[in-house]
Amino acid sequence: MDCTQAIRARRSIRRFKPGAPVPRQDVETMLEAAMMAPSARNLRPWEFFVVDNPELKARLRRAHPFSSMLDTAALAIVVCGRPDDQKGVVSGYWPLDCGAAVENLLLQAVALGYGACWCGCWPSPRISVLQEILGTQSVPVALIAVGVPDEDPAPRGFYQADKVTWLS
Ligand SMILES: Cc1cc2nc3c(=O)[nH]c(=O)nc-3n(C[C@H](O)[C@H](O)[C@H](O)COP(=O)(O)O)c2cc1C
Repeated sequence: MDCTQAIRARRSIRRFKPGAPVPRQDVETMLEAAMMAPSARNLRPWEFFVVDNPELKARLRRAHPFSSMLDTAALAIVVCGRPDDQKGVVSGYWPLDCGAAVENLLLQAVALGYGACWCGCWPSPRISVLQEILGTQSVPVALIAVGVPDEDPAPRGFYQADKVTWLS
């Protein structure tokens, strides 16, 4: 699958085949894709938590009200920002950098045949409890459920000509 196809095939997957594994090598390929995202001044102010421990995954699920797909997902990847890594240089770009990393990760998951769903964490009141579960001061930006899809939502087109201004 090439990039054009992966972008158009990607959908949020909220039902996974229970117990179907995602090998560590594939998780690392997704993480590498995430870390290849563009980053302001290339400061890469991110950190990733891979959670496949069932008890911890269940705690994340309870902490995030819109993450019920974690019940069947093989694992969660929490993309966290590290604002201090940008302090005094280009502070404020860290959520954008993390968002770019999240999208790369989602597309890589599709290209490898997996499904994923981005569950938003930043900005929300959920941040502190997620930090406690993960044992980090980094700021959870996105909780991504990953697994083998058990649904196949149709690709959909989103081209909206009225959102585009051509200044030729
Ligand atoms: C910042 C952000 C936060 C999101 N949070 C959630 C969430 O908490 N739970 C969820 O099921 N989907 C979440 N989504 C997924 C969106 O609902 C989904 O991307 C949107 O409906 C479009 O559907 P598609 O991803 O299948 O194209 C989030 C997406 C983004 C970008």
